[in-house]
Order: sequence, then structure tokens, then C-alpha cells
Amino acid sequence: MDRRRVLIDTDPGVDDAVAILLAFASPDIELVAITAVAGNVGLDKTTLNARRLVDLVGRRVIVAAGCAEPLSERVSEESVVHGHDGLGDLEWPEPVTPLDPRHAAEVIYDAASEGPLTIVAIGPLTNLAVALERHPDLATMVEELVIMGGASFEGNVTPAAEFNIWVDPEAARSVFAAEWPITLMPLDLTHQAYLVDEDLDEMRSWGTVVGDRCAGMLEPYAAFHDEWYGNRDIIMHDAMCVYELVSPGAISLQGVRLAVEVTGEHARGATFIDRRRVHAESTQRVGVHVDNHQFRRFLLERLRSLGVSEQ
Ligand code: RIB
Ligand code: CA
Repeated sequence: MDRRRVLIDTDPGVDDAVAILLAFASPDIELVAITAVAGNVGLDKTTLNARRLVDLVGRRVIVAAGCAEPLSERVSEESVVHGHDGLGDLEWPEPVTPLDPRHAAEVIYDAASEGPLTIVAIGPLTNLAVALERHPDLATMVEELVIMGGASFEGNVTPAAEFNIWVDPEAARSVFAAEWPITLMPLDLTHQAYLVDEDLDEMRSWGTVVGDRCAGMLEPYAAFHDEWYGNRDIIMHDAMCVYELVSPGAISLQGVRLAVEVTGEHARGATFIDRRRVHAESTQRVGVHVDNHQFRRFLLERLRSLGVSEQ
């Protein structure tokens, strides 16, 4: 089997953690590096959480820290949506996975230089924008960039803007303008994919460290959803990017052109997803529909396969 070389740029983040574990659980993916960016929580915590997740599955993967601040003027403070530590505030052992001394932007460029690479971007796009700034040829070297971000209709941080884009719209503008093929998973797609309480019960029933950790992280995240949305459907935003890679065809896609509003009293961070037929063959695509039952079964079977790893 030809394994797909993948780098995940992330701000873990509970849903980031599920996406990363799905990548580890997928034999068709060779996860070559995880680069951390500030987003859900500060860079120190997102970097620590990336190391924790690599330890959890007992693998050896490059982990590097990237940008602590967005290119755009900072407007977001640390949220507790994902817990104070970003992963649901569980107890974790001291991390073993070392931190690569290179900046994330250099790890991204080096990984793209070493062979075909797919980048999965599931946090604010600051690291990618800095990598493009430092290495303008990067966009021609990357096979595909799959991004969780944006919204066709309603945002989640403001009525107009989705969190990852809202944190750093300037970075999003330069990423959308570069020539790499982009597949975007916006909120109108990701809200179709969610776990429910019986999935958490199933994870707990496995008797594995991975199952217990996932259920432990997802429980407070479910409580956040209940408070914010009025139900405990746990939206799997970031996992959609990995699901697209490991289950081709499971998410219907459409050619579009992407744009972002960088400043604006009400529309800062808004994404404009132009779906007119003239863009049908565009190298920019958007996720349109996903079957949640199929996704849940697929995800749980893959996560269960990760089994037990010594902590
Ligand atoms: O809007 C959803 C995005 O913001 C996801 O990447 C999630 O991790 C949150 O940070
Ligand atoms: Ca994220």
C-alpha cells in the first residue's frame, strides 16, 4: 500500500486530538510531523499536547513548535472550551517525545522538500503563512492542503467568522491566495459530523488507554456543546480533514474559490466560498456533505485499533 505522507499543523484542542489519533490509526497515512500553533490554548500548551498525543500511541514522530502569536492583531484570549490545558484537563505523565529544535515553518518546508506531502491544517493558519513567507516555492511542492476552517453561512466565534480563520485572517488570506490545491472543511460541513454519548460509552468499554483518554477528553467537550448549542452532540470539526484522506469519497466535494475578509467591524475573519459553476474545476474545493453514522462507525473502529499503549 502506498502510504500518504502527511504533516498535521494543529492547536490541540480536543477535536484536534481525535483527528491526530485517527491519522495514527490509519495505515494508509504516514504521519511525518506534527507542528503546533497557538489557537485553542497558548503555544506552550498546544506543543505539550502534541507531544502527549504522540506518547499516547507510542510512536516516534517529529513535533515542533510554531507561532505563538498570529500575523493579524491578536483578538482572542485563551479559551477554556477545551479545558485549561487544551485536552480536557486530564492527568498526563511527563512527555517523552522530544521537541524538534526547528521552527514549525522549517519543519513544514523540510517535510515538503523530502517527498510528496499532504498538509492537514486544523488550527489558525499562522505557521503555514510564515512558511510561505520564508519559502515562497512551498505552495508548488505540496500535493494537497486540507484545512478545517471558515463557514459558508454562520460562524462560531462571531456570526460571520469561524475560529481558526478569525484568530488570524491575514494568515488565511495568504494561504488561500497561494497556488497549492486546497480542500476546505467549513462549519457547514463539520457540524454534520458529531459523536454522541453512546460513542463515549463504547470508548470506555474497550478497556484501552486510548479509549479511556478519548472518552475523558470528550466528556467536558460534550458539556461545552450542551451549554453552547443546547445538546451534547460533540462536533468533530478537525477529524473531517483526516477522514477525507482516509475514506476518499465519504465527503462530497465541490469546486469553489475562497476569499477571506481580513478586517471589518462585523465581518473580520468571514470566509467567502464562491460556489458558482464557473469554479467547478477549481483547485480549491469545499466539503459539502458527510454521512454521520458512517463517520462514527469508521472513527470508532479506527480508534479502537490503536489499542493499549504503555503510559
Ligand atoms: O471552529 C472549529 C475549530 O476551532 C477547530 O479547529 C477547533 O479545534 C477549534 O479550535
Ligand atoms: Ca483545531
